[in-house]
Amino acid sequence: MSRSTLSVLLAIAVTSQLALAQPDPADPTPLVDKTYAYPSGIPYQVDYNTAAIRGPQTGYNICNSTTQNQNSLCQTSMVNHIDDFCLWAPPIPNSTIGDTEQEEVAWCTKPGHGTRLIPNGALQGVQYLVTSEYIQIAGFIDQTQINMNAQDYGGELDPHGADLRGNPLGGLMYSNAFPSNGGNNDSYQQVIDWTNFMGGDAFCITICDPASSSANQSAYCQNIYDRMGCSYNMPNNAQNGTFEVCDSDLKIPAGLYVTGGVTMTYSQPDSAAVDPPYTAFTPASSNCVTYASSALYTGIATVTPTGVSASASGGTAKATGTGSNSAGAAAATQTGGAVALGVSTLAGVTGTLFAMIFLS
Ligand SMILES: *[C@@H]1O[C@H](CO)[C@@H](O)[C@H](O)[C@H]1NC(C)=O
Ligand SMILES: *[C@@H]1O[C@H](CO)[C@@H](O)[C@H](O)[C@H]1NC(C)=O
Ligand SMILES: *[C@@H]1O[C@H](CO)[C@@H](O)[C@H](O)[C@H]1NC(C)=O
Ligand SMILES: *[C@@H]1O[C@H](CO)[C@@H](O)[C@H](O)[C@H]1NC(C)=O
Ligand SMILES: *[C@@H]1O[C@H](CO)[C@@H](O)[C@H](O)[C@H]1NC(C)=O
Repeated sequence: MSRSTLSVLLAIAVTSQLALAQPDPADPTPLVDKTYAYPSGIPYQVDYNTAAIRGPQTGYNICNSTTQNQNSLCQTSMVNHIDDFCLWAPPIPNSTIGDTEQEEVAWCTKPGHGTRLIPNGALQGVQYLVTSEYIQIAGFIDQTQINMNAQDYGGELDPHGADLRGNPLGGLMYSNAFPSNGGNNDSYQQVIDWTNFMGGDAFCITICDPASSSANQSAYCQNIYDRMGCSYNMPNNAQNGTFEVCDSDLKIPAGLYVTGGVTMTYSQPDSAAVDPPYTAFTPASSNCVTYASSALYTGIATVTPTGVSASASGGTAKATGTGSNSAGAAAATQTGGAVALGVSTLAGVTGTLFAMIFLS
């Protein structure tokens, strides 16, 4: 790597501003521009260039019955319905998202995608919202059962990153859920933009409709507010203990807020404390249908955790909120809804920095 290339990349890492993201010269195609038909067009790895600064990709993208096991390194994920979705989580027990963001693997609620399975009972409440632009899932999870350190307040996974190669590197997302897929549950569209916060025994994930404008996908799957958690990025009123599917109005994209009739933009500071001058507005949801988790997750009923003991959690928390889904009734707060704060940015940047110094 040339000295000037290195200094450019160091500058990017030091400022940590994702808005200044630059492709890695050794692998310049951004992950969001790598598109493949499912499943036949997907390569073994979408990010295989070992000359790139980060990496190489630790898992693979061809996932099948051979890779359907609890050691799977499948990095092709799915969000199809409340009973059929995957979250990104670490391959090795007791990890933090900040330390492992580039190597997370898919953990799913259903066999058939060639991935690991979320152990039975780990999901403790799930709210699945259908909007005209995106699908949002927020909920509660015993994160130790998917290899996360019990104390990890977590971080954000998305197909961008400072080098545009994604976290995890090479992670792909597919769905059959958007109207533009034509209602065929057996075929899957690639989701171009998505974002997933994991941490604090909560999670939230949004997949943006690939048929919408790229501006809308960027706005609703915003990835630069990675230290502001679910409550700002995906305001929700998910309840611990409740499993529900609802229609929902659109959120106000993260970072935007209206005061005195004027739309303002809040920028997340690089390293100072995050202190937005607003509370995120939780959009109205409607037509909610609730389910028993045992009826939804039949495919994982016998899956048990293989990592660290899952018995560490406190057990004092109770389901919060009133279950109201009415307009504006519950602005997202740190106590209601699933929050999953993203605090991994510095760890991630530091890791990148060390990797670059090592390679120079
Ligand atoms: C199954 O997936 C593995 C891992 O990606 C791959 O090596 C293997 O070729 C795949 N098998 C088939 C039949 O596609
Ligand atoms: C998990 O990691 C933390 C910090 O590295 C350590 O203190 C703790 O004992 C580990 N927990 C288990 C269950 O291994
Ligand atoms: C496709 O999946 C959705 C969600 O699970 C379900 O409601 C719908 O009935 C399925 N469609 C068909 C044609 O099976
Ligand atoms: C983009 O989102 C807005 C709502 O914010 C919606 O009115 C518009 O139709 C969307 N554009 C496209 C191309 O889907
Ligand atoms: C969710 O509820 C379960 C079961 O009551 C509890 O063990 C867990 O701590 C709760 N999670 C949160 C994040 O409050």
